[in-house]
Amino acid sequence: MEGMTDFQHLPVMAREVVELLGPVPAGLIVDGTVGGGGHASLILGARPDCHLLGIDRDGDAVLAARERLAPYGSRARVVRGGFEDIAEIVSAEGEGNVMGVLFDLGVSSPQLDRGSRGFSYMADAPLDMRMDARQDLTAALVVNEYDEADLARIIATFGEERHARSIARSIVARRPLLTTGDLVAAITAAIPGRLRRTGPHPARRTFQAIRMEVNRELEHLEQGLDEAVYLLKPEGRVLVLAYHSLEDRIVKERFRDWSATHEAPALPGLPAEPVERIPVVRTLTRRALRPAPTEVEDNPRSRSVRLRAAERLASAPLAAPRAS
Ligand SMILES: C[S@@+](CC[C@H](N)C(=O)[O-])C[C@H]1O[C@@H](n2cnc3c(N)ncnc32)[C@H](O)[C@@H]1O
Repeated sequence: MEGMTDFQHLPVMAREVVELLGPVPAGLIVDGTVGGGGHASLILGARPDCHLLGIDRDGDAVLAARERLAPYGSRARVVRGGFEDIAEIVSAEGEGNVMGVLFDLGVSSPQLDRGSRGFSYMADAPLDMRMDARQDLTAALVVNEYDEADLARIIATFGEERHARSIARSIVARRPLLTTGDLVAAITAAIPGRLRRTGPHPARRTFQAIRMEVNRELEHLEQGLDEAVYLLKPEGRVLVLAYHSLEDRIVKERFRDWSATHEAPALPGLPAEPVERIPVVRTLTRRALRPAPTEVEDNPRSRSVRLRAAERLASAPLAAPRAS
């Protein structure tokens, strides 16, 4: 296996992330996607009065982050887990004073670069794509067992792929597919010839869609956000870096709902007057922040990112996280 020091991932919009966490009161910052510890080490450096709990579902990332954050001693801890369980993880660690939560979504560069993980259409490998190698659902299961209509829906929705139906048909016709190379071949065969020669790699969108399905990415984001907002103490902040329009939409809608002061009546027949509501957060980014052109040049991975942040209000009701 590659050494953990090979775990190279440039943190995206690092200056903006550190600045947005600058004003939060001293306490705990939770990095829900600690990856190689890039953002985490910058946050620890900028906020000597805070400590940090890093979470990642990927065992390699956890080892890499522990190594990277070792110089911070007991100020940094890293655990393996899913950020959808952030409330449980934070309480199991005996922590309470949560002043910041960061989610830097998607996959890390090492996950993509280590061809053996099956995330990349550039390397031939078993169809895996699990961020957490302990789970049962793999890309092989999705590709070989889902019915054609489900595959088409996933590829169209998560991949925003126009040719989803013909790709799904081509996948089903070629079963069993064993490797990422088999999947690339099935996708390429379903796409009009002119598109194969121009633009981004024809498999990019489908690979993204299958990865999102395997790792339940949108579901986990919704759950993680809902738990994070109730973990935060007043003046604590939640920051999300989203690379996919569906993810960003979830973040935007959550922040909008939580900062709303009015709510439409829930049932028809109730009074037409909107119900007065106490907002839980104030949004710090009316429009999503985008990376500077120089960053996009230096780090193409940052190209599609949108950064949104919200601050927990002192007046907000201290409701419990979602009932489990
Ligand atoms: C873009 S990388 C984070 C990189 C990190 N910010 C850095 O600077 O090194 C995203 C990380 O989130 C992890 N991840 C994705 N979904 C997760 C989830 N639901 N729970 C915990 N970690 C998750 C991935 O395994 C990956 O390591």
